[in-house]
Amino acid sequence: MEHMTLRGRKALVIGGAVGIGRAVCKAFASEGASVGVADRGWPDEKSSIVTELVASGVDAYSDEVDVRDEGSVSRVIQHAISRLGWLDILVNNAGITSAGAPMQQQDSTLWAEIFATNVNGVAFGMKHVLPHMLERGFGRIINTSSQLAHKPVPNHGAYCASKAAVTALTASVAQEVARDGITVNCVCPGMTDTAMLYKGGESFVEENLKALPIGRPGKVSEIAATYVFLASDAAAFFIGQSLSPNGGDVMW
Ligand code: NAI
Repeated sequence: MEHMTLRGRKALVIGGAVGIGRAVCKAFASEGASVGVADRGWPDEKSSIVTELVASGVDAYSDEVDVRDEGSVSRVIQHAISRLGWLDILVNNAGITSAGAPMQQQDSTLWAEIFATNVNGVAFGMKHVLPHMLERGFGRIINTSSQLAHKPVPNHGAYCASKAAVTALTASVAQEVARDGITVNCVCPGMTDTAMLYKGGESFVEENLKALPIGRPGKVSEIAATYVFLASDAAAFFIGQSLSPNGGDVMW
């Protein structure tokens, strides 16, 4: 097996300021990659991850992006290419959820917001990085979906549907570029210990943990390991896949 190393690779993590994205930035950096961290206006958190990486000798920088805005996503990708020299790896990780509600009470503005972030944001990221990756004949695109794409729960229709869309979009685009040296895959994390997990309420978490074989939420570092693998040369034969670190919840 080839070594799982990202030495010399240039990565942009969109939605990298906190939670899973932040752990991905750290894991990429510890495998030798240069890392751009893009997020929307959480300056303290963002500067702290970048400060931390730079302090440990990593070539890292931060940038502002709102993934709902195609122009913003295009700009942040162009900036990454000029700042880092080129881009090998793009992680489309930005995502939001809601407290949840039955379908008849679904707020239409929130529905649109969830799709604009979780689906459009991922599409914009792929659209604007692909010309560069196609020109170079190499690329690793990793989108963040969710195990809820495969095992939808009640009262979270917008979120579950948005993540199923990410999984389908990943598989569709993966086929378009599979012969061009570019892999497109997604990670479908199970319950992971971040701020987002508790948006659905404490009882939602408690109930679901009872049924989870491992009996605890995932640590962000345990989720980040899958991104490192998919970004590595060892994952060259993974095309359009959904890899799901999930503590045994969904098995296939
Ligand atoms: P989080 O809330 O800690 O992080 C989400 C990140 O996305 C934040 O940095 C946030 O600023 C960024 N973001 C949100 N909207 C944005 C926008 N319009 N433009 C730019 N950045 C934006 O949540 P967590 O848990 O780290 O989530 C990361 C990804 O993992 C999300 O896509 C989420 O849906 C997914 N996920 C999380 C799971 C969990 O249990 N925590 C399980 C499965 C998937």
